[in-house]
Amino acid sequence: MATILDGKKLAAELAEELKSKIARTGSRPKLAIVMAGNDGASEIYVRNKLIYAKQVDVSAELIRLGRSASQNEIFDAVAALNADDTVHGIIVQSPLPPLPDRSYQDHVFDMINADKDVDGFSAINIGKLCNGQRDCFLSCTPYGILTLLTRNNITLTGQHVVIIGRSRIVGRPLSILLSQKFENCNATVTLCHSESKNLADITKTADALIVAIGKPKFVGKEMVKDGAVVVDVGMNSVRDSTRASGSKLCGDVDFDNVHHRCSAITPVPGGVGPMTVAMLMQNTFQASTKLTVDK
Ligand code: GUN
Repeated sequence: MATILDGKKLAAELAEELKSKIARTGSRPKLAIVMAGNDGASEIYVRNKLIYAKQVDVSAELIRLGRSASQNEIFDAVAALNADDTVHGIIVQSPLPPLPDRSYQDHVFDMINADKDVDGFSAINIGKLCNGQRDCFLSCTPYGILTLLTRNNITLTGQHVVIIGRSRIVGRPLSILLSQKFENCNATVTLCHSESKNLADITKTADALIVAIGKPKFVGKEMVKDGAVVVDVGMNSVRDSTRASGSKLCGDVDFDNVHHRCSAITPVPGGVGPMTVAMLMQNTFQASTKLTVDK
């Protein structure tokens, strides 16, 4: 029977720990969330961030810009938050509305002051991670996955970790993190993507398989080695006529068919998602105390 890696439960435990730490400092960290447009998934992610912030006593401010917000409006919002000494952490929720200059999202992430970049997406924080420097903010989903596995006593050191998906938010920073000489990292990492040939041949060699491509039930049992650890980052909304809402959340892994094969697996929902939020608040606390991550 596979161990279910319960991210919801761990995130709740971490909330208690963080709340106590914040209480001991006597000052409240402040997080600013910039959101432009009305992406459905982002609405849910941001709502969960605001709820968790309240639980741990982080003050969170949501700055909503309209669907038609211009590049300059978004830049101005970030510039104002950079200059505001009461704000410790800043995130710009992705995706931003599409604009003709598709690289503007990169510029927005890079504009965030590195000491306030609690998503760890800026070139400075990613560059430090690439160089193996520990004084950087780790991107929240990779950090959450590492924490979830470590807290469940799953060793990654020396293991073959296969990641499917090379996104800027998950796959790429995760591949860099897990290959570093950090605690419970030091893995042999293979980063697969849309052009990878013979994908199943690769994934079947994985001791740990991490899937972040946004395709419902993409990974079936024929892609998984017996005894592997499987981490599902997918959050896909699929039709379900038996529910009043008409839809349900579904991961990138076909859980029902795969879990028999695994030694451990994350559920969707309740696996990686809550851990991402927990790490965001962890990073915001670090930013408020001017410490950075020491893995
Ligand atoms: N969109 C999906 N996940 C994330 C995240 O972790 N941070 C931001 N800023 N946007 C996201």
